[in-house]
Amino acid sequence: MTARDWFTKARKEGFAIGAFNVDSLEIFKAIVMAAQRTKSPVIVQFSPGEVGYFGIRNIIDFTVNAREELGIALLLNLDHGKPEEAVSKAIDVSESIENGFTNVHFDGSDLEFEDNISQTQKIVESAHKKGILVEGEINKVSGSSEIHNEDIDLELLKKSYTDPQKAKQFVMGTRVDILAPIFGNIHGTFPVQPDLDIDLIAKIKEALGETFLSLHGGSGIPAVQVKEAIRVGGIVKVNVNTELRVTYKQALEEKLGEQPDEYKIYDLMPEVIAAVAAVVEDKIDVFGSGDKV
Ligand code: G3H
Ligand code: ZN
Repeated sequence: MTARDWFTKARKEGFAIGAFNVDSLEIFKAIVMAAQRTKSPVIVQFSPGEVGYFGIRNIIDFTVNAREELGIALLLNLDHGKPEEAVSKAIDVSESIENGFTNVHFDGSDLEFEDNISQTQKIVESAHKKGILVEGEINKVSGSSEIHNEDIDLELLKKSYTDPQKAKQFVMGTRVDILAPIFGNIHGTFPVQPDLDIDLIAKIKEALGETFLSLHGGSGIPAVQVKEAIRVGGIVKVNVNTELRVTYKQALEEKLGEQPDEYKIYDLMPEVIAAVAAVVEDKIDVFGSGDKV
């Protein structure tokens, strides 16, 4: 099944597919292990920083190998790809969706609206020639994927919420497959997490018709709200990064504290991988994507 098939199925059956960021080999192993155990489709995704760390061809090889060896439904996304050249590179190195990226997210949210439309449109044109889906962004997802101790300025955040009509104009001008809207979501975890605006995501869904919708900033949002966003707002892709990074670091610190004289990394890591896999499995449970493969 292609990425389009998976998102179509998700929308029809009312579940979402987790898009999990990979910033270490152990996190990659944890995601694919969780996917195999739960029989869930998953997306592994790499931001430009993460791509730089692994190397773009290694990412493709990891994905192809895991898909074949474990028999899992594994999609590959470039997350918050920018500038345009970085996204074009991901498309160029992809021989096909079987041996390359299945999805690319072009983050043009720093650009003027018209420039964002024209650059996104160009990416859509070249990506679609290979069957790669494109995700667009018009309002910047604020925050960053880490634990924040400061409070959110809710009034300021609300100014970035996505206007359904503007979203429609963007989608019609670009023909993107997926839109990343803002409706209370933010990258990272905060002392007080803003509530998702479910009425707004329902309006965006109505305005966009067939376009798929993603939820960025999936860490820290109460499960009940994520489920509502999937059920009422038609969200089919939920991005998660912070909770994986935090779990990885805490589990590693714990393990190193327990076994200060162990030097074999491959003996230290299985528990770290298991801790991250447990978080991924919890998310899969919330998203309702288990037993769909
Ligand atoms: O694109 C990545 C995600 O939106 C991650 O957000 O770090 O809040 O889970 P998060
Ligand atoms: Zn994001």
